[in-house]
Amino acid sequence: MILNKKTKFLKTLEFFPELSLFLALIILSGCGSENPTQQVKPPAEAVPVVPDRSAPVVNVSQVTEETRQTYQWYCTQCHGEKGHGNGVNAPHLVVPPRDHTKASYLETRSDEQLFEAIKLGGLAVGRAPCMPAWGNTFEDKTIHSLVSYIRELCDCEAL
Ligand code: HEC
Repeated sequence: MILNKKTKFLKTLEFFPELSLFLALIILSGCGSENPTQQVKPPAEAVPVVPDRSAPVVNVSQVTEETRQTYQWYCTQCHGEKGHGNGVNAPHLVVPPRDHTKASYLETRSDEQLFEAIKLGGLAVGRAPCMPAWGNTFEDKTIHSLVSYIRELCDCEAL
């Protein structure tokens, strides 16, 4: 059976020499030294990896439009649209949500403390448990940017 098929195929090649040329081309292109995946190498790889001292260091805690949207989506229900601690849920909480515009309080907290309060939740940092933990929701860089956003809201820094 196998032999029959083979001879039939060879016969076909006899009648269609173009076909054999075509097949040969396909086979040749398959074993060419140029690997097709290497051809689509991203240009970035060709750039020498010399650290550019003049390039600004990427600030992971930069406030972006995404940061503002994240705050609007996840934090305003309690902390209020402008961070005044007057969100729709605020009246129902035993402990009032922190006013993120209150510099006199936020100046007493380091960025690290704010980061931990957001990442680990109120309970983990000796605050009320109704401040949820966001560590499973956001990457650290998003949390860093939320800290920066709170610093923007209070227009203050840790003293
Ligand atoms: C379910 C309501 C609720 C939500 C949602 C919420 N918070 Fe809070 N948050 C609180 C409460 C209540 C406190 C006050 C805890 C205390 O003072 O003991 C608080 C406190 C804080 C503090 C201050 C911690 C400190 O050191 O005093 C930060 C910072 C904070 N929240 C950030 C956020 C961010 C950022 C989000 C959104 C990603 C968020 N919160 C979402 C309820 C909430």
